[in-house]
Amino acid sequence: MSVQPQAQSLAGRIAFVTGAGQGLGADIARALRQAGAQVAFTDVDGELAASVAAEVDGLALALDVRDEQAFSAAFATAVRHFGAVDILVNNAARTPTTSLWDVDVAEWDDVLAINLRGTFFGCRIAGRHMRERRQGRIVNIASLAGQQASTATGVHYAASKAGQFALTRAFAQELAPQGVTVNALAPAAIASPALDAMPADRQAALAAAIPVGRFGQGEEVGAAVVYLASPAAAFMTGATLDLNGGRLMR
Ligand SMILES: NC(=O)c1ccc[n+]([C@@H]2O[C@H](COP(=O)([O-])OP(=O)(O)OC[C@H]3O[C@@H](n4cnc5c(N)ncnc54)[C@H](O)[C@@H]3O)[C@@H](O)[C@H]2O)c1
Repeated sequence: MSVQPQAQSLAGRIAFVTGAGQGLGADIARALRQAGAQVAFTDVDGELAASVAAEVDGLALALDVRDEQAFSAAFATAVRHFGAVDILVNNAARTPTTSLWDVDVAEWDDVLAINLRGTFFGCRIAGRHMRERRQGRIVNIASLAGQQASTATGVHYAASKAGQFALTRAFAQELAPQGVTVNALAPAAIASPALDAMPADRQAALAAAIPVGRFGQGEEVGAAVVYLASPAAAFMTGATLDLNGGRLMR
């Protein structure tokens, strides 16, 4: 089978992105739109989602991924609006930096509820829809923090991101016979408001620790998701795509 260059076009596809109101989620949703997909921009902050979606004629929906019923309802709204959903990107997350000595139960539970349980709900809700249609792409936005130790983010964040790899493999195995792929993307050190807010010398030290010598860009994350969502990636499932400038080579 030959893979044509246009196999990366997502014209006619429908995507659903969580946490798309800002940051990488907004960049991912914009990239999918640019590649030709119709996109549902969802976020717990419905106003943020609406302002980003309005730039590119997307559908904006308020969605708190901790709530399974709300997730099902928002997904059903996107299906009614567009006719189907072909691509789900589980991106929504909370990224606290609390020291492991100080994390309390409420914060632990909330981070796991958003980052891991939300991803589980998304995979299951989209998985049911996609297996019936015998096609679909699920991309879970994980992190280098789930692959190696880091003091930059909290232990609960790291645990949630590591858990996403297990979910990715479980759903990939379950859905592979139905033509649905499930993959994880593991970014690190992507330019973001949090990085921008750091003192210049700290930013320079962080960049120097990255073999390519710079931070990644949101557009590079978007391009990787477009690839994973494209027909060209049909033989890739249960995989983790590392996007970290060489910070982790394995
Ligand atoms: N920025 C990085 O360098 C980096 C590196 C590795 C992985 N990641 C991953 O990329 C993803 C996006 O990170 P970011 O830096 O853009 O984060 P961010 O905090 O800037 O954005 C997260 C978005 O998720 C939304 N959100 C929060 N709680 C939600 C909930 N309960 N339901 C729905 N939406 C909710 C927020 O409103 C926000 O729009 C996350 O999964 C994160 O783990 C980011």
